[in-house]
Amino acid sequence: MHLEQPSRTTLGDCPVGVTTILAADDRNAEAAIQRAAQIIRAGGLVAFPTETVYGLGANALSAEAVSGIYRAKRRAMDDPCIVHIADPGDLARVADLGRTLPRAARRAAALAAAFWPGPLSIILPRAAAIPDIVTAGRPTVAVRMPAHPVALGLIRAAGVPIAAPSANLFMHTSPTTAQHVLDDLDGAIDLILDSGSTAVGVESTVLDLSREGIPTVLRPGGLSVERLRAVLGEEIGAPATTGDGPGAAGMAAPGMLEKHYAPRAEMMVLDGPEEAVRSALAQRAAALRAQGTRVGALLSDEDAQALAALPDAPVIARLGPAREPEIMARRLYAGLRELEGQGVRVILARMVGPAGVGQAVADRLRRAAGGRIIRV
Ligand code: TXA
Ligand code: MG
Repeated sequence: MHLEQPSRTTLGDCPVGVTTILAADDRNAEAAIQRAAQIIRAGGLVAFPTETVYGLGANALSAEAVSGIYRAKRRAMDDPCIVHIADPGDLARVADLGRTLPRAARRAAALAAAFWPGPLSIILPRAAAIPDIVTAGRPTVAVRMPAHPVALGLIRAAGVPIAAPSANLFMHTSPTTAQHVLDDLDGAIDLILDSGSTAVGVESTVLDLSREGIPTVLRPGGLSVERLRAVLGEEIGAPATTGDGPGAAGMAAPGMLEKHYAPRAEMMVLDGPEEAVRSALAQRAAALRAQGTRVGALLSDEDAQALAALPDAPVIARLGPAREPEIMARRLYAGLRELEGQGVRVILARMVGPAGVGQAVADRLRRAAGGRIIRV
């Protein structure tokens, strides 16, 4: 079916307009992609699915088009955008391989061969064609080739690289469905391509290859550090976001503020032995309820089962089996938004282990909680 659903809203100082949603599924993706590509070429804003989260795209070669992204998201101007390409050969259009250290160029080629298309953004010296606003004035650019047929089709049809941050309001939870995008950006963007829920659920891993020394993860994401290490055969700089303290915050990607990916409820993340956390979750839920606070909980199936049996159980969103970090990643943001939609004031969750994509889930939980982890 060719779903089209115009709507109208006011968004602060953002231009008021009509946001159209087009279904981009197997049967009608092509027509939807062509229309979206036309909007990109004309300097407009299109939200589109990737394998990680929905992105808010504009022509990466046009400063004016990209400035629209910052307005629509109300994004801080010092937070640079990732540039999306549809072919590893297009890397040379957006990165300056002449200024790239030979070792970095070798690493980039090996990583692109192993993981593109996929949830990996690499940082290299930027090409002259990329305007300042895309990189927030930095000499480097983050590049990725997304693993989603609609994203790739859009970039190819537009004929230009596409700058795209996640398609949420600045500091809010990233969108994993078209509805999430609409909830944040209705009226502020031209079009949303709807391909259902995204598969990975957390953003790409951002890897800095632009400096001397070892490659450094600036943001853990959908591609695990273990897999990067296996392909590069060398140590990878620890994500600046591991550990609870401010730590190496200066190394983090510019957009990696402690309070980020935040739901509009207070997040409390508990860490400790399995049973101790389970009873602390139950106690806190009960105590908050006793104060009249509406409480939500973002829980593994195992924790959910234990808590749902309680007389004053919180509103629960399930993340799937505790030992399946990939499923947890896929459901994390939708779970946060679902609880938010239920009007909870506090969201309780358990910290997850750092193996594989669990590291990215742990990072997002920590940020959603503003960096405060409660030890039990
Ligand atoms: O999965 C993803 O990466 C999604 C989809 C849409 O591709 N995009 C995304 O973009 O998450 P965004 O803007 O929400 O996050 C990009 C991150 C930010 O933390 C930003 O600061 C960092 O990448 N970044 C971008 N360019 C950079 C640069 N030149 N140097 C350092 N960090 C950079
Ligand atoms: Mg984002």
